[in-house]
This record gives sequence, C-alpha cells and structure tokens, in this order.
Amino acid sequence: KEKLVEKAKEILDANFQEGGFTIPCKGLYPFQWKWDSGFIAIGLAYYNVKNAKAEIETLLNAQWENGFIPHIVFHNESDTYFPGADFHLSKLHPLASKEYRSTGMTQPPVTGFVLQEMLKIADDKKDMLGFIKSQIDKVYDNHKYFYSNRDINNEGLVYIYHNWESGTDNSPIWDDIWKTMNPPEYSFERRDTTHVDASQRPSKREYDHYLHIIEIAKANNYDDVKIAELSPFLVQDPLFNAMLIKSNTALIELYEKIGNNADKVAQLKSWQEKSIKGFNAKLYDEELGAYVHYDLRNNKPIRFVSSSSFSPLYAGIPDKERAAKLVKTMMDKFGGEDKYLCASFDPESDRFNPKKYWRGPVWINLNWMLYYGLKDYGYAEISERVKQDSIALIENDGFYEYFDSRKEIRKTETGGYGGNNFSWSAALLIDLLH
Ligand code: DGY
Repeated sequence: KEKLVEKAKEILDANFQEGGFTIPCKGLYPFQWKWDSGFIAIGLAYYNVKNAKAEIETLLNAQWENGFIPHIVFHNESDTYFPGADFHLSKLHPLASKEYRSTGMTQPPVTGFVLQEMLKIADDKKDMLGFIKSQIDKVYDNHKYFYSNRDINNEGLVYIYHNWESGTDNSPIWDDIWKTMNPPEYSFERRDTTHVDASQRPSKREYDHYLHIIEIAKANNYDDVKIAELSPFLVQDPLFNAMLIKSNTALIELYEKIGNNADKVAQLKSWQEKSIKGFNAKLYDEELGAYVHYDLRNNKPIRFVSSSSFSPLYAGIPDKERAAKLVKTMMDKFGGEDKYLCASFDPESDRFNPKKYWRGPVWINLNWMLYYGLKDYGYAEISERVKQDSIALIENDGFYEYFDSRKEIRKTETGGYGGNNFSWSAALLIDLLH
C-alpha cells in the first residue's frame, strides 16, 4: 500500500510542470485539462499543498471574462497533441482570456467540490480556507456562466455542445447524434494514435464529427446563443449536471464557512433547488432504472445506461427509493463477480467495447465518485467493492488511464489501456488509500 502511494506521488511529481500545473499524461495529453486538474489537486493536497493550490490557480487564471473555464489551457508549447491551440482559436470570443490560449469548450464543473475536498484534507484549515476565499468567486462566476448561458429552457439543466465537454469523449451515447451529421472528411494528423494503440482510441470518422462541431462554433466566434441554435450536438448530460449540483452544494457550504456572502448563498440555493427538481423530472428513466442523457437538438432522451447514469449518487440527487433502483441496475448489469466495477458503458449492450476509451473500460474518476456516493447512501459493502476494485486494477495493471472490466482476460493479457502514468489515476488512488 505504501509503495503504491509512493509510486503515485512519483507520477504526479513527474507530470508537474514548471508553470504550476500537472499534465494528465506525457505525450498523449501535454497541457492542462480542466477536470483532470481538479482530481489531480485532490491527490496533491495530501502531500504537496503548494502544488495543489497552484493547480487550481493556474486553471482559474485562464478563466474568461464571462466566467467560462476552458477544457484545455495551453500554457506551454507541445506538438504531441492534436487539436492544439492553433486549431481552437479561443480568442475569437470577445470575452476570452487575453493572456492564455485555450479551447472554446469546457468540461465537467468539478472545481467547486474539489475546493471542499482540499479543505477536508488540509491539516492547516485556516490556511486552506484563506486560499479558498481567494479563488471561490471565480468558481461562483463559472456557475453563473452556466446558469445564465446554458440553461436555455430555464429548467435548471445546462447543456453541453460537444462530446469533449462531457468528459466521456467517445461514449456510445453519442452514436445516434453522429448519424444526424454528415461532416466533411477533414485532413489532419492525429497524434493520439502515435502514443496509444488505435484500437483503444476514437476512429478517424469520429474525429471528423468532433472537429466539425468546433468549426461551427468558431465560425460563430464561440457565441453561446449561436451555438445553442446551430450546434448539431446539444445535450443535457447527467454526469455534467450532477457535478454542477455537487459543486453548488460545496460552494454553499464553503461560503457559509467564509461568511459575509449571503447574496451568493441565496443565489446558489435557488439554482440548486431548480436543478435538482429539473434533474429528477427530466433525466430519470423509470423503465431502465437509471438516469440518462437528453438530446436537446433532436428533442429526445438517449436511452442507454452508462457509468454517468449512477453519478447522481455522488451529488445526493435521487431519494432513497430511487437510489435503491439505481444500485440494483448497476449491480445487475455491471456488478457480476466476473467483472470489476464499474464499466463506463452497459456491458450488456452491443455497443459495449471493453478496450475502447469511453465505450466500456473502467475509469478511476467515475469509480471515485461512485465510491463516495454509494457510501453516502449507506451502501457500505458495494462502495467498499468499488474502492477495492479500483485499487486492484491499479495494483495489477499499473497507473493506466482506463481498464478492462473483465477479470478473465488478465489470464492472457494486461487490462490497462490508454496512457500510462496517468495523473488522475495516481491522484485519486492516494485519496482512496488514505
Ligand atoms: C482527447 O483528446 O481525447 C481529450 O480527452 C479531449 O479532451
């Protein structure tokens, strides 16, 4: 156990950059990513408070004037990733950061609950609360951005306009949306498949779709109103919205600790009430016994079960009865003794692929949320299994980006896929083993 933690720290230290941020993985992801940054800060908070704070600060420094926080910040130069800063041209947006280059899309809003985790972990609470006080308004402004610009039906649910915003990049959830599009065949040079076997990454045709949505956004200077009107991809994602809700809760509690912010607390509570209500009313699928995505562009629910379906447990969204149904769905489909919890996509679906990125493999960050969520709802045994499965995967296979959920394949091959020495796998292991 101690050796694993030592190895995890070595990985984080090796991935830490001079500019004060941590890359998710050498070669494959050579810049700062928004949600990676949050999970990484949690691991760092255990042994290097200075770097943990820097991680958050460097991300928030790149915030746009409208509160938007980009999914990648290009602090540094690197030619090992595509699409880089030159492709995204975030500065087309009039309120984009003048100082930093970034993408014009975002990622799940984890920063609020990350600040709260950092406070829980800190030995010197006063010092950490002082740091939080210096950063928290930026996170509040980010939530304000979401509620002001991305809740177009005023139902407490914000949209994402790109699969890269979801974090679950190539999930089978998006397959039917791709069928509604017919993008040109772009010519570009992939870099990811020079680092990782192509069978574990999205296809070229999928990348055409990804780039096409960005081209539409760029042609409209990343204007939110235009994007809501024109993007072929417009989705209310349960994982994304659950993270926003979890972070709302965190901001409320942190502002109450800090004091003197009654207006912001009241505003957060009002967003929160509407969000939880809207979430339960719109994103729950009775028949599947799970939360699902909603396709706003084509006006229909996307009826598939994925690990995102269970993430509302981490945010306290379902009542006890609904939580019990979620847990049953999870255990029936994903929880067999021959499997590690929790595959990222329904193992019973013909779209399941246990090796391909978000089409089936287990991811440590989703497991981490499930572990805490299940624990909060009183599922001690299952939550412990999620924790032990996560540790076993890393112990047996290494600090990979994602893992095969099938136990038996390890008789003949390794089950770790994607990038190795992956920062959030290391960071969250430190937390799980604490
Ligand atoms: C990638 O390039 O696959 C990244 O995950 C996008 O954020």
